[in-house]
Amino acid sequence: MRPLYNLPTLLLGLFVGVSCRGITTREVGRQLFLSRRVVTEAAEFDGGVLVGSNGVIESVLTRESIDALLRNGDSSLQVFDGGNLALMAGAVDSHVHVNEPGRTSWEGFVTATRAAAVGGFTTIVDMPLNSIPPTTTLENLKIKAAAAKEEVFVDVAFWGGAVPGNEKEYPRMIEAGVVGFKGYLIDSGVPEFPHLEVEDIGPVFSALDGAAVVLAFHAELNDSRITTDCDNEYCTDPYLYNTYLATRPEALELDAVSLLVEYIEAYDVHVHIVHVSAEGVIPILEEARQKRLMKGNSRWRGGVTAETCHHYLTLSSEQIPPGHTEYKCSPPIRNITNKEKLWQYIEERRFDLITSDHSPSVASLKGPNFLTAWGGVSSVQFGVSLFWTEAKARGYSLSTLSHFLSAGPAKLTGLQRKGFLRPGYDADLIYFDPDASFVVTPEIIMYKNKISPYMNRVLQGQVVYTFLRGQLVASSGEVFEGPLGELLLSPAVLFN
Ligand SMILES: *[C@@H]1O[C@H](CO)[C@@H](O)[C@H](O)[C@H]1NC(C)=O
Ligand SMILES: *[C@@H]1O[C@H](CO)[C@@H](O)[C@H](O)[C@H]1NC(C)=O
Ligand SMILES: [Zn+2]
Repeated sequence: MRPLYNLPTLLLGLFVGVSCRGITTREVGRQLFLSRRVVTEAAEFDGGVLVGSNGVIESVLTRESIDALLRNGDSSLQVFDGGNLALMAGAVDSHVHVNEPGRTSWEGFVTATRAAAVGGFTTIVDMPLNSIPPTTTLENLKIKAAAAKEEVFVDVAFWGGAVPGNEKEYPRMIEAGVVGFKGYLIDSGVPEFPHLEVEDIGPVFSALDGAAVVLAFHAELNDSRITTDCDNEYCTDPYLYNTYLATRPEALELDAVSLLVEYIEAYDVHVHIVHVSAEGVIPILEEARQKRLMKGNSRWRGGVTAETCHHYLTLSSEQIPPGHTEYKCSPPIRNITNKEKLWQYIEERRFDLITSDHSPSVASLKGPNFLTAWGGVSSVQFGVSLFWTEAKARGYSLSTLSHFLSAGPAKLTGLQRKGFLRPGYDADLIYFDPDASFVVTPEIIMYKNKISPYMNRVLQGQVVYTFLRGQLVASSGEVFEGPLGELLLSPAVLFN
């Protein structure tokens, strides 16, 4: 841990108060956040961010205008000077499985959002499955929101689920504020969230035709190679990673995306492919986007977008040791050639965003057998540093980080006050030390099950302070008690 920054002491002195309920609150006036290195998705400069007492950004300023502002002497202004630490928009993780209620031993709102807060994620978007009930009806969304209410340390938005036959729930769930719907084209791993068979896909597109929300897909298509038994021609040793990899070849992703292209052509629906692993997916999507754009589609990116995840950009199949199923996820981590191609697509801005796909489970479901272990990598806490570790070594700027981890996910999910340093946006801010490094150990992990393929790795770059709507929520790996996060849903629909 790195306790050597002296600012939080000053800040705490100024802001911590005790409310009448005895809960610690932080009184916040108008604030000025300074940095020699303000980073947006497009630029870096010496300056700061002026934040109103409502926690909303008033203006983003250069050092010259700040000097002028300070000369005019507004004594009520509280100044937070981060010095050389980069000041950036809080990161947004649009792909997190929180699992509460129902599988709260896997992950819960308190632990997931505490991990997000220390890692610089000021908004996470919860996936509709692995909790029980799954988020496939308005009633179920209410149950989930009730579980999350008052225990989130960062803001939380929600995906709805697209399962066979639940189309009639979409309008009310959209009204309640879900960012979109996610469906599977292959077994989801949990029985209460059935996947869409080919005949189920049309009704989903038809129900969302022209809608403003996103339709996201887990794009792999079942075929005969999928197995959990090591008793066929493809299987030699279930403890070897390559055995698992052979059961989920690129073809599964390519087939699924090719199938979706027919619907992309026929309907006006924003289609988003989550966790792309196989590089060959991108050219297929680009062709579909191109056709849409030529027909004058005015959606962001022609309404055809894709994300990849930190594990596909950080790891490759060659380095996965036998029995280490903390590396197992689906689609699987592929070889080094594939990883390099994904980085080429990052370079060329052919991906739109990067997420964690934080999908934890209890240790007993992992075990050493790659075919039977739960598939899911946990990393909601480490996304910013994971991306920076690779990106820095490859010569990328901090603006690239902001583009893919803040702006991109906020654009996708239509969270209009999130992801950017801009007037009118929430003052969700992080101070990031791009030159610091740290080791991932169980002691620093804040999410519930301390399982990680990054254990004992050195990561580059560390989030030092995290502010949510102008209020300090985490500092140097510690979270302030008293959750200040909000559910990004319509209270009128949910809590009536
Ligand atoms: C996947 O396909 C195989 C045949 O290719 C079939 O036996 C199996 O039941 C299918 N699994 C699912 C979940 O549809
Ligand atoms: C990676 O896999 C692809 C296809 O699956 C193959 O063409 C390529 O040669 C492999 N690269 C390495 C380094 O093994
Ligand atoms: Zn997922």
